[in-house]
Amino acid sequence: MITLNKITKKYSSGANKVTGIENINFSVRKNEFVSIIGPTGTGKSTLLRIIAGLLPYDSGTVYCNKQTPAQAVRSGLMGFVPQQPLLLPNRTVRQNIELPLEIKKTRDNDAVTAIIELVGLKGFEDFYPHQLSGGMKQKAAIACALVYNPKILLMDEPFSSLDMITREKANYDLISIKQKIGQTVIFVTHNIEEAVFLSDRVVFISGIPGKIISDIPIKMGNRRHREIMTDESFFNEIKKVRKVMAMA
Ligand SMILES: Nc1ncnc2c1ncn2[C@@H]1O[C@H](COP(=O)(O)OP(=O)(O)OP(=O)(O)O)[C@@H](O)[C@H]1O
Ligand SMILES: [Mg+2]
Repeated sequence: MITLNKITKKYSSGANKVTGIENINFSVRKNEFVSIIGPTGTGKSTLLRIIAGLLPYDSGTVYCNKQTPAQAVRSGLMGFVPQQPLLLPNRTVRQNIELPLEIKKTRDNDAVTAIIELVGLKGFEDFYPHQLSGGMKQKAAIACALVYNPKILLMDEPFSSLDMITREKANYDLISIKQKIGQTVIFVTHNIEEAVFLSDRVVFISGIPGKIISDIPIKMGNRRHREIMTDESFFNEIKKVRKVMAMA
């Protein structure tokens, strides 16, 4: 579904060039949930924003379902959830969720209502962003990314500002959304437990400029429910990721 071949991105910083990522090869299969984890400054957001068509790159190729990122964005293939929810303060939850459709000059009241229900914001659709909790804002941002039914969902640390309990609940909700509408997901996080709980694969990126150090399969199948959080098999997968990271 997504293929990156030898991608390098350099940023201009005054007279200097800063390498964001260098020679990255990476691919994601259809309906796979892949987490990217790694220290700060290793190029995780750079990578995600390149795939999202938000950032030009210097060399290499990127294909999303055989299209360039720009084409994939135009055809509504991708939804992007940024680290800080981008909601317009003067629009209600419903109006914010409608915005991506307005930009595409389409209208689908039923789709908006269904998405509001799916993310658990029913009853809050007429609230303005300042009337929402942090978790609700994240839900609204996810709804904005999902409303035109993208096949690929890109999420950059979407739950990093949530408290632990709300974050766990957000993880369960995300699994249930994925099970209902089955997208391919790339998810950036600093949290190993969250990455293991959600993912089919955890990709560990390290160094400056960032390189992919390991690509770890998570063997939990479809057992992504609350009870697994206290199961030995879950801890074993976490241990596996921790060991790989410690050896890097
Ligand atoms: N707009 C920019 N201008 C110059 N350098 C940049 C810019 N954005 C990112 N960089 C540099 O590119 C490198 C990768 O940054 P990036 O934001 O992708 O890292 P990250 O892994 O997402 O970090 P974090 O975990 O803190 O979010 C860093 O060295 C950073 O300083
Ligand atoms: Mg980042």
